[in-house]
Amino acid sequence: MDRPIGMFDSGFGGLTVARAVIDLLPAENVVYIGDTGRYPYGPRPQDEVRQFARELAWSLVKQHEVKAVVVACNTASAAALDVLQQELPVLVVDVVEPGAKALVKASRSGRVGVIGTVGAIGSGAYERAVASTGADVELTSAACPGFVEFVERGQTSGDEITILAERLLAPIHDAGVDALLLGCTHYPYLARVIGEVMGPDVTLVSSADETAFATRELLDRLDLLRLAAADAPAEHRFYSSGDISWFADLGGRLLGPELGAADHWQPPE
Ligand code: DGL
Repeated sequence: MDRPIGMFDSGFGGLTVARAVIDLLPAENVVYIGDTGRYPYGPRPQDEVRQFARELAWSLVKQHEVKAVVVACNTASAAALDVLQQELPVLVVDVVEPGAKALVKASRSGRVGVIGTVGAIGSGAYERAVASTGADVELTSAACPGFVEFVERGQTSGDEITILAERLLAPIHDAGVDALLLGCTHYPYLARVIGEVMGPDVTLVSSADETAFATRELLDRLDLLRLAAADAPAEHRFYSSGDISWFADLGGRLLGPELGAADHWQPPE
C-alpha cells in the first residue's frame, strides 16, 4: 500500500519518531508536519492543543491521503488521542502508550519516572497509561519547561541545559528510579545531558522506537504495509508552519539526509 504514513509534532521533536519509523520501515513513504509556527504546545491549554492536533491530522488525511497518523507528540497525544481515534477514518498511533509499556519493561526495581511538558504531565495521561499496563510500579513524574525551547533553537548541550536539568530532574533523582521515560519527543535530543544528570544506573527510555514497532504491528495487522520495490524507493516530505529554511536546516541536522527540504504548511483559516 503506497499511501504514506502521516506524522506530526509541534516542531522538531517528532523527528525522533520519524527517524525510528524510517529506519524500521524503510519502504514506507512518510509525510511529516512540524507546527513550529505555533510551538511550544506544552504550556497551552488542552483544548487549544486538541484543536491544533485535529487540524494537523485532518490535513494529513485530506491533503496527503495518509493511511495512518502517528501523533509524534506526547502533549498532543495526551490532549487529543481520544478525539482523533474517534473521528479520523484511518489508523491513529500515539506515543504515550508505547512509551509507558517500554518504561515498565525497562525497570527492575519498580521505581520509574517520566518527564514531559507541563501539558503532558499535568494531563495525568502517563499515570493512566502506566496503570493500564498492570505493572506494579511506583511512578514519579516531573514537567521540564524550557527543554523544548533549547531543542527548537538547535541547542542540545552546554552548561545552561545542564543547570536546568539538574534542577528539574531533582525530584526524579531523589525518588531513586532505575528507568526514566523521555515523555516528550524532543527530549531524546537532550539524552546526553539527561543521562549525565541521572547517572549510569538509570535507563533512559525513548518512546520513538516503541512507537515505530507499534506502527509496524498495527499496519501489518491491517495488511497496510508497503513492500519494498527497487524501482519505487520511499519518498519523504516535510512541512513546517514556521520558517521553512530553518526547518530544513536544523531538521536535516537532527533527522539526517532524508530531510533535505521543507515546504510550508498553513493551518486552516
Ligand atoms: N514534542 C512535544 C511532546 O512530545 C511537545 C513539545 C512542545 O511543543 O511543548 O510533548
